[in-house]
Amino acid sequence: MFDDVAPKYDVVNDVLSLGQTRRWRKVVVEAMGVSAGQHVLDLAAGTGTSSEPYADAGINVIACDFSLGMLKVGKRRRPDIDFIAGDATRLPFADNTFDASTISFGLRNVNEPKKALAEMLRVTKPGGRLVIAEFSQPVVPLWRTMYTEYLMRALPAIAVKASSNPDAYVYLAESIRAWPDQDHLAAWLQEAGWESVTYRNLSGGIVAVHRAQKPADPSTGAAAGAAALAAHTGPVAKLRRNITRPGR
Ligand SMILES: C[S@@+](CC[C@H](N)C(=O)[O-])C[C@H]1O[C@@H](n2cnc3c(N)ncnc32)[C@H](O)[C@@H]1O
Repeated sequence: MFDDVAPKYDVVNDVLSLGQTRRWRKVVVEAMGVSAGQHVLDLAAGTGTSSEPYADAGINVIACDFSLGMLKVGKRRRPDIDFIAGDATRLPFADNTFDASTISFGLRNVNEPKKALAEMLRVTKPGGRLVIAEFSQPVVPLWRTMYTEYLMRALPAIAVKASSNPDAYVYLAESIRAWPDQDHLAAWLQEAGWESVTYRNLSGGIVAVHRAQKPADPSTGAAAGAAALAAHTGPVAKLRRNITRPGR
């Protein structure tokens, strides 16, 4: 599916997000807090739009994705970025390779997202950071209703005009509705062994940016993740107490 939408992917994205993607991406880069010379994994990087700010800042970014169509469009546009074909659930990198890892609007598309979280933990250095940008649940009920109307009615109609593969955008709307909310995703991160999990809502919760850290001693993180899983027999609320939320 991503091979089909690759040529017009970025333009259609800008139209459908009403120009908000640029602002969202800026927040992600700031949350990463990386500097020139460091090594960053941008997973599910697609055409590399999410990787560009790192390359522009002199950061060694690897844009990894399993769609050759997306990677080809990206490489043509930005030959200076390293594009690598790889599956998020079986990453082709050694343990503790990257100073920080990120995934923008990709985790929801991965068939086994929990495996991807575990793989990102494996390839990130101890103490390294993870930042996830993903569509989420608007927090104010009226805003949520308006947004759901937009997703299910307006978005597919716009996509018919703007995209060569409108079905992909019906899938987009459905996958956003089926995706776990902010707290639930935060709980997945903890279960995977990430610690210091926080998130920030953007555009009223249309998008959430989750941030976490790999334990400095990874065996501590694995133990904490296992404990969180064991405690997680009821509602997600049990884990919420451990989650701090700057700037909701
Ligand atoms: C919506 S695009 C996001 C691209 C880019 N990160 C951005 O912000 O524009 C989602 C990407 O996830 C990729 N993807 C989905 N499942 C994947 C997997 N298991 N491994 C690697 N990439 C995957 C798709 O190929 C697609 O390029």
